[in-house]
Amino acid sequence: MNAPQRPARREWPIAAGLILLALVPSVAGAFRIGEIAVGAPETDANARFMQMPLPVVLHIVGALVYSIVGAFQFLPRLRRRRTRRHRFAGRYLLVPAGLAVAASGLWMTAVYDTPAIADGAVAVTRYVVGGLMLAFIVLGVAAVRRRDFFAHGSWMIRAYALAMGAGTQVLTAGASTPIVGEPDAFTHFVQLGAGWLVNIAVAEWIIARRRAAERRPAMVAA
Ligand code: HEM
Repeated sequence: MNAPQRPARREWPIAAGLILLALVPSVAGAFRIGEIAVGAPETDANARFMQMPLPVVLHIVGALVYSIVGAFQFLPRLRRRRTRRHRFAGRYLLVPAGLAVAASGLWMTAVYDTPAIADGAVAVTRYVVGGLMLAFIVLGVAAVRRRDFFAHGSWMIRAYALAMGAGTQVLTAGASTPIVGEPDAFTHFVQLGAGWLVNIAVAEWIIARRRAAERRPAMVAA
């Protein structure tokens, strides 16, 4: 007998929560693009973006598409009922946007003259996160090509979780700065690292639950 279906509205808070998480960095990104578009005066804070806008524009546009489309891509009911839409969005929007976010993040880490607190450990972490995000998306695509849907979902959840670190960092950095004051390089590294670690932990928890749910029917049959 099929398991009873949960009411459809239960899934929408997931998408709303994910979009909310991406809201602050997305709004910040929209302001940055506006500043570049109107040729705002250069300051210490925006010089690197004004002098070399391509990577940051690619990054922000990619991040907007990735975070919004991705939020709906993970809704189980929508994915099952709208398989063609899921495939189309994944192939033509989510994968290119995710690759653009990660590659432009790596590009900016390599070429931008970032503030001193973002050099060293923060830069190394950004290389690791950007590299892992690229690898996870490629692994997710490879998994769906061999029709391993469980592995596909797991890799895509991991990639999305890393990207959404930008949203969680608003909480980990934003919440701690009033307590610890202007961060030094180590504190900044801990604030950003905490955002990524929280997301990795949540992603692995979701994947473990999916794995358990996947095994349940087989155990019942056995
Ligand atoms: C959906 C996810 C993401 C969003 C919404 C996002 C958003 C942004 C925004 C708005 C900026 C511009 C900051 C400014 O104008 O001051 C930015 C910069 C940057 N992001 Fe992301 N980002 C995301 C994911 C990532 C990932 C995964 C990496 C890892 C490589 C990354 C690395 C960077 C770097 C290196 C910069 C330049 C920082 C600087 O020069 O100060 N981002 N991001």
